[in-house]
Amino acid sequence: MKIYDLDRSNAIYIQATIELLVEGFQNWPSAYSTEAASKEVLESLEANRLSRVAVSASGEVLGWIGGIPSYDDRVWEIHPLVVRSDVRRRGIGQALVADLEILAQNRGGLTLWVGTDDECGQTSLSNVDLYPDVWTHVWQIRNLNRHPYEFYQKQGFVIVGVMPDANGRGKPDIYMAKRIERESSR
Ligand SMILES: CC(C)(COP(=O)(O)OP(=O)(O)OC[C@H]1O[C@@H](n2cnc3c(N)ncnc32)[C@H](O)[C@@H]1OP(=O)(O)O)[C@@H](O)C(=O)NCCC(=O)NCCS
Repeated sequence: MKIYDLDRSNAIYIQATIELLVEGFQNWPSAYSTEAASKEVLESLEANRLSRVAVSASGEVLGWIGGIPSYDDRVWEIHPLVVRSDVRRRGIGQALVADLEILAQNRGGLTLWVGTDDECGQTSLSNVDLYPDVWTHVWQIRNLNRHPYEFYQKQGFVIVGVMPDANGRGKPDIYMAKRIERESSR
């Protein structure tokens, strides 16, 4: 498996990435239509962004990660990240995050962040009223059904906030971030 820039001129990879996005989120409330996935993939190719695909030795697109800069490139949002469902838990997601981290560092990034929704009761932050002691709930978070926040924790991210009811009452978005600044550049 190798990781490459998603190249605007590579129609085969672009089509495969669109299909990956549709397939990878198909059971989610916020699933992508083919049209929405096409828009997302094409937007990822804008000049200031990062868009990287993990490709197998036989040329199949197995995973995709996008990076969106803000705060004069100091902060990079992971959006989106998806690994094909039949090849998950083999280190591809981890490799894509590590790759994006280096590229964001090279562009002056200090922070990588991600918003990871809980729309389906996957964590203890869902289906409860998080107000007023939001942080008590955050400190006590539990993974009820394979929510990816633990995937991000394993990559060194910590929870830096939560938006209660972001996806409807009791369906929060969980914000996670990681310092990516090189020791030598401080
Ligand atoms: C989340 C996702 C990108 C992870 O990719 P992956 O290739 O399966 O992850 P990896 O194999 O690199 O996993 C790295 C580590 O995280 C763990 N991990 C992966 N997914 C996890 C989850 N849902 N919950 C808890 N731990 C998880 C792995 O077990 C592994 O642990 P280890 O280092 O102790 O062995 C993938 O499951 C996916 O595409 N999910 C659907 C879309 C999605 O949720 N995207 C993120 C939205 S914010």
